[in-house]
Amino acid sequence: MISDWTNVYDAEDEGVAGLDQGPREYFNGGAGDEITLRDNVEAWGRWRFRPRVLNDVREVSTESKLLGKPVSAPILVAPVAYQRMAHPEAEAGMAAGAADAGTVMCLSTLANTRPAEVAAAAPDGRHWFQLYAFKDEGVTRALMEEAIEAGFEAILVTADAPPGGNRERDRRSGFTLPVELGTPSLTAAVGERPLSIEDTFALMNHALTWENVADLSSECSVPVFVKGVLTAEDAELALEHGAAGVIVSNHGGRQLDRSLATADALPEIAEALDGRATLLVDGGIRRGIDVATALALGADAVLVGRPALWGLAAAGREGVARVLGLLRDELELALALCGCTSPAELSRAHVRRAPATSVYSV
Ligand SMILES: Cc1cc2nc3c(=O)[nH]c(=O)nc-3n(C[C@H](O)[C@H](O)[C@H](O)COP(=O)(O)O)c2cc1C
Repeated sequence: MISDWTNVYDAEDEGVAGLDQGPREYFNGGAGDEITLRDNVEAWGRWRFRPRVLNDVREVSTESKLLGKPVSAPILVAPVAYQRMAHPEAEAGMAAGAADAGTVMCLSTLANTRPAEVAAAAPDGRHWFQLYAFKDEGVTRALMEEAIEAGFEAILVTADAPPGGNRERDRRSGFTLPVELGTPSLTAAVGERPLSIEDTFALMNHALTWENVADLSSECSVPVFVKGVLTAEDAELALEHGAAGVIVSNHGGRQLDRSLATADALPEIAEALDGRATLLVDGGIRRGIDVATALALGADAVLVGRPALWGLAAAGREGVARVLGLLRDELELALALCGCTSPAELSRAHVRRAPATSVYSV
């Protein structure tokens, strides 16, 4: 029962438990030894709060603005491929759940649902589109235009793939994404029968450079974000090439194993950008206090991938809204206990690295 969930891990227990081994491991797994997958979660826990007390916190609001428009909390739904494997409502349910929670849903290029259907399922919702670039620029442009036509407000260019990471769980079990679920926008853009994931990756542009980002940003009528940035140098390049913002991300630990956890990468990027662009982060966010830490470290908002997916798998639209509601409530409490009445009041002074544990302490 979703009303019994205490935190997002209850959604994981219910949502993932019901799936077959292939989809379960595809959704929850990472690359290689899964060091970055685990580190993403653990790295948020390597920060400690410096809470301020005796501020009046009777009225606390998690509401924030992104691209000039409100969200109920700075917690967005990350783009995740093939959501029909999690639940028959698929991306439509994810979008409706995000809209119910008052936040943005990001749709993957590898979605089983087209942008117009997502928009129809959540007419009051806010939607952004994640873009993989293809060798055939006409395909890339068609995908982008379809999303913008359907009212999507931003394009997130994924920079940390292709190629796909070394997903050993999938290789060992022989799992491949089911072709019959389809990626309809891509099929329409390519003009072929449904594509396997191997065919899809082969069609992607493996030669993407910052010049492509500059071209996309100048052509595109909505803001472009670069997703998958882990260094201050690349964040700077993203801005130089016209991006409206960056998403600090390692693809949920699914691409380069042993790349930095996002909580460890975020501070240098926040310092480099210094408020000049929208700064988002994802990876390992499982608690409202993780969100509060990200905001204190300089992020404007976070995205959640797997927690939203667990909610969808467990209970469709309602499960998604419940997961997002749990995170929002935890954030609200964290704000109050830090002595803040809004996300904007969290600052770098509210966190510090956890003091090192002595090897001699018991
Ligand atoms: C099953 C799965 C599929 C994903 N598919 C995509 C995708 O199609 N495009 C993309 O840019 N990122 C994709 N991601 C990465 C997410 O957008 C996000 O960066 C990541 O899930 C954040 O980490 P978290 O799951 O720990 O919250 C995927 C992640 C998962 C778990």
